Amino acid sequence: MTRPTLTTTAGNPIADNQNSLTAGPHGPVLMQDYQLLEKLAHQNRERIPERVVHAKGWGAHGTLTITGDISKYTKAKALQPGAQTPMIARFSTVAGELGAADAERDVRGFALKFYTPEGNWDLVGNNTPVFFVRDAYKFPDFIHTQKRHPKTNLRSPTAMWDFWSLSPESLHQVTILFSDRGLPVGVRNMNGYGSHTYSFINEAGERFWVKFHFKTLQGHKHWTNGEATEVVGRTRESTQEDLFTAIERGEFPKWKVQVQVMPELDAEKTSYNPFDLTKVWPHGEYPPIDIGVMELNRNPENYFNEIEQAAFSPSNIVPGISFSPDKMLQARIFSYADAHRYRLGTHYEHLPVNAAKCPVHHYHKDGAMRFFPQMTGNTDAYYEPNSFNGAAEDAKYAEPPLKISGDAERYSHRIGNDDFSQPRALFELFDAGQRQRLFSNLAAAMYGIPQEIADRQIALFTKVHPEYGAGVKAALEHETRTKAAETAQQQKNPAGPVAAE
Ligand code: NDP
Ligand code: HEM
Repeated sequence: MTRPTLTTTAGNPIADNQNSLTAGPHGPVLMQDYQLLEKLAHQNRERIPERVVHAKGWGAHGTLTITGDISKYTKAKALQPGAQTPMIARFSTVAGELGAADAERDVRGFALKFYTPEGNWDLVGNNTPVFFVRDAYKFPDFIHTQKRHPKTNLRSPTAMWDFWSLSPESLHQVTILFSDRGLPVGVRNMNGYGSHTYSFINEAGERFWVKFHFKTLQGHKHWTNGEATEVVGRTRESTQEDLFTAIERGEFPKWKVQVQVMPELDAEKTSYNPFDLTKVWPHGEYPPIDIGVMELNRNPENYFNEIEQAAFSPSNIVPGISFSPDKMLQARIFSYADAHRYRLGTHYEHLPVNAAKCPVHHYHKDGAMRFFPQMTGNTDAYYEPNSFNGAAEDAKYAEPPLKISGDAERYSHRIGNDDFSQPRALFELFDAGQRQRLFSNLAAAMYGIPQEIADRQIALFTKVHPEYGAGVKAALEHETRTKAAETAQQQKNPAGPVAAE
């Protein structure tokens, strides 16, 4: 087999890729050795900023196949019976950096990009149906508590529990995070949720509220804290290995896709705010409707190109799917594209993984990565409106008006919100074993934090359910006694196993 000739980035053939150009066999190196300079300069530019959250991730390509008929709720072409839409998924942990171990207790990101005939539809969810906060104003502070302390450069349980114990709206998500499902063995064995409430809009221009669910067809599997410690000791890449090798073997992971649909005016009647991201819609009230299957069936050829450079954004909607008044969603509509312009560059949506697979026309002009031709439909049309047949708006895509009212004010998101009933409903689903593991997972995470913060958090658990509070209190006392005994043992034998040698 003949090999292609190695070249510089400008295409000049390279005769020697092993030895730099030097004056005499021992150097120094000549400045004209452009091949060496190019190689070193490229190495210096191989890293881009990691995502500010969800830095560690794993992903694959796949297909969304619609089998159910929800055409009375949405006109989205990708959701019509029989539609098959190519897509890409990126899963992630939230807090860890790019090199973090996979088997950590953390929420998993569940980001999907569907390349529909009407543009890209991104659903940027998690493996949990709810979130820790309900107002985006709290999000950067919350994330600071999950990341490293500025002085110790260590993650700080005190910061985490200080924030959570002062934010009762976090109880629902905290209960899920420290339950069995908070540490899945890999992404194949977990559900995904769009989490927010979105709009469906049908051909008649009627709006419905909708939530998206992706139920694993591989079954739920999770690790205990002890098992995860052993896994991380063995491999830090357990999820990458699991997803990549399953797809290589032809075992394509699948998720059943479901929606819950709420008539627009029901939003005024529910006992909870249906746009509150700390709440689910009980299945008994809004039963999930099966609409199809999502399958992942192709590994990326190049991880950096297709997964690291993937840019998912809740702002990417298509006709028939739209936003809701959820305050968190509204902020995310801004935040992601802003992050991508910083992390990837101005024209990131023209990178192959992000490019829509339908005609795209816009008048954005120059800037970093302007490597694509004019997208306006005519070279003389570089502004709008114009007389040169450039792309123009089409009123048929207008959404029905969204009914809103109210005076502008910084309304407290804590007043009139029940933060306890839904975590209670979840706690009541757990059997005795699940409850015990919940208590000990919480105790392990809370160990060592100041007593007043622990007391404040336990008081919140007690308001969810007296057994919840009592269980965590007992587990924390047990953890404290065990750790004290270990410390006493170490003080008696400070050198530990080494002394025995
Ligand atoms: P249902 O009994 O109808 O639904 C219970 C849901 O809980 C199922 O979707 C099930 O997921 C999920 N579940 C079971 N065990 C766990 C766990 N350890 N961690 C997270 N989720 C779990 O009850 P309701 O709809 O009335 O909801 C009751 C509670 O269930 C809620 O307060 C919420 O905490 C939780 N839940 C509800 C969801 C919803 O959309 N209504 C979605 C997910 C959780 P699966 O089907 O995969 O087994
Ligand atoms: C990633 C902001 C809440 C899911 C990110 C990123 C930012 C961000 C800036 C990095 C994007 C990038 O560089 O590509 C926010 C803000 C939030 C919020 C401001 C609250 C207002 C949420 C919620 C969810 C979520 C509620 C899930 C329901 C994700 C996921 C990713 C991510 C899955 C990773 C996407 C990927 O794989 O590229 N978020 N986020 N975020 N966020 Fe959020």
